[in-house]
Amino acid sequence: MGDQSYGVDPATVDYIAQEIKDAVSLGVELAIVIGGGNIFRGVEASVKGIERTSADYMGMLATVINALALQNYLEKYNIPTRVQSAIEMKELAEPYIRRKAVRHLEKGRTVIFAAGTGNPYFTTDTAASLRAMEIGAEVILKATKVDGIYSSDPMKDPRAKKYSTLTYIDILKKGLTVMDSTSISLCMDNKLPIVVFNLKGQGNIRKILKGKKVGTLVRGNNGARVKEKHQ
Ligand code: GTP
Repeated sequence: MGDQSYGVDPATVDYIAQEIKDAVSLGVELAIVIGGGNIFRGVEASVKGIERTSADYMGMLATVINALALQNYLEKYNIPTRVQSAIEMKELAEPYIRRKAVRHLEKGRTVIFAAGTGNPYFTTDTAASLRAMEIGAEVILKATKVDGIYSSDPMKDPRAKKYSTLTYIDILKKGLTVMDSTSISLCMDNKLPIVVFNLKGQGNIRKILKGKKVGTLVRGNNGARVKEKHQ
């Protein structure tokens, strides 16, 4: 959305495309799972009277709009990109086919996974965890507006503490809402690390891929908090 209150802000999509280009130039295989909250928030709509399943499908359609926007900007920067949709709409995107996605990645294409898991009641985060498992990803980079996971919402609570490392169990036990419990559980069961970082920090994706400490690392084994920052 950028500074807009709704929709696709071209400058923001352009910025994200440049961040991805910067990351892809390192030679990594990168797949993107994109949300749709800038256009439609399924959970909020369901509270306002739209049936939850319908609201979730509307949210999934919003992710397809975002996927096409991002694909356009990536291609402007000569990043070969394929969009795969979990809900078949073959006139505008490939259907999600795991083996084909892996093949695209091997050929150096960035793959955008749209339409979540294709099922209501599953979030974009869960779609990201599922796709990550399916394609054999080494890490999930969860892009947010804040620079990691905090003990409470840093936008509202000035005493919120930032964690540099957490375990999956920590997140579930503390009820931290950075990602929903289904997606965290999936990562926990399959030992897939997650890095939660601020997308607005220029070069952050590249830095994480180069092993620099950015944001919060979520992992399984004795994830003792390395450092806590008072904000
Ligand atoms: P290779 O098999 O490695 O050559 O991959 P490719 O993606 O370049 O080849 P393909 O012929 O499968 O696709 C060519 C273009 O058509 C790509 O931009 C695909 O994303 C797109 N495409 C492939 N299948 C579909 C589909 O079912 N629907 C839509 N809308 N586009 C598709």
